[in-house]
Amino acid sequence: MENNLFNLESYNDEDCSCGSLIFLQKGSGIPFEMKRIFYIYDVDLKQIRGEHAHYNSNQLLICIHGSCDITLDNGTNKTTYRLNSPTKALLQKPFIWGKMTNFTKGSILLCISDSLYDTDDYIRDYEKFLKLIDENKD
Ligand code: TYD
Repeated sequence: MENNLFNLESYNDEDCSCGSLIFLQKGSGIPFEMKRIFYIYDVDLKQIRGEHAHYNSNQLLICIHGSCDITLDNGTNKTTYRLNSPTKALLQKPFIWGKMTNFTKGSILLCISDSLYDTDDYIRDYEKFLKLIDENKD
């Protein structure tokens, strides 16, 4: 599967210990126009989230605190990414199944989307997902 992991530019002043800053705005850091932000937090260690794909939406996933694993699956290949830094951003494109696991205590997963919430944009059944992928193969 293509590499969907991006490094975000972090700004820090080496002359002080005032921390780091990352900004994301239209035309910088985000490979689409953002329309919605949501975040997932307080997830128990063994819980699994996600487990769906989208018909149209792109999502950029950033674990801004703590860490979690995201497995992206295109119906043929699966790749698991460890998001353990606010500087790492993972792009989940349409027709890619995403599964979120191994949330550490206190972790916060930020999701930036290019579309407003629409329940009809979700593919929540894995067998249906595989069928759709198969039907859309050239
Ligand atoms: P859901 O997408 O089911 O989360 P997950 O699949 O990761 O468990 O979202 C949980 C609830 O929140 C569901 O009732 C829909 C609602 N929701 C919105 O209203 N707007 C949003 O942007 C999102 C992501 C969810």
